[in-house]
Amino acid sequence: MHPLPHELPGLFIALEGGDGAGKSTQASLLCRALEEDGRTVVRTREPGGTPIGEKVRSLVLDHGHGEIDARTEALLFAASRAAHVHQVIVPALTRGDVVVCDRYIDSSVAYQGAGRDLGAQAVLELNLWGTDGLRPDLTVLLDVDPAEGRTRRTSGKLDEDRLESEPDAFHTKIRSAFLDLARQNPERYLVLSASGTIDEIHTAIRDELARIPA
Ligand code: TYD
Repeated sequence: MHPLPHELPGLFIALEGGDGAGKSTQASLLCRALEEDGRTVVRTREPGGTPIGEKVRSLVLDHGHGEIDARTEALLFAASRAAHVHQVIVPALTRGDVVVCDRYIDSSVAYQGAGRDLGAQAVLELNLWGTDGLRPDLTVLLDVDPAEGRTRRTSGKLDEDRLESEPDAFHTKIRSAFLDLARQNPERYLVLSASGTIDEIHTAIRDELARIPA
């Protein structure tokens, strides 16, 4: 059984994983399935999800804003997340909706904490403060091999954003950080290999959700 990490009536699901893991495909399938079950679903993503968040997304991801130091980057992601939680996620959970969020705090712990060497604990604390401690009911980690992730994401588009274009060594650190988080929080994590078929991964997520009390 999953102890619920918040008191709100809705269900909060986060999708996490390295770049090219297939989170967006799974988010679409999951949202459609939940809607067919009669749930009201809010699909959203980070960075983004609000007008402020989309501006921050462009600041941190587009090339051409000049150098961004690691702490500024972490604060920008955290600011985008705070706006997102307060303007979108908490109101949706309060209504009793299901929130399916493409990336959440664990992305910052992995990318800024491990990838940028700021430290997992410091980044976690910053984000817990920004979100007033809101944690997902379930985090699905799509575990992807960095080289495989790069092949997948570059096959569909020519340009990689600022984070994606970091070398494979950076993405390897991120992969281990996500796996560490999952090991430390087994009660709220479902870890799936991104090399499974789209259907296999979707079915595994649905099976896990069926185990969470409504
Ligand atoms: P994402 O939206 O998943 O990429 P895509 O444009 O392919 O859909 O994420 C954008 C990038 O931002 C991704 O490389 C991960 C990075 N990121 C962080 O570094 N920290 C964070 O807190 C978040 C949410 C994302």
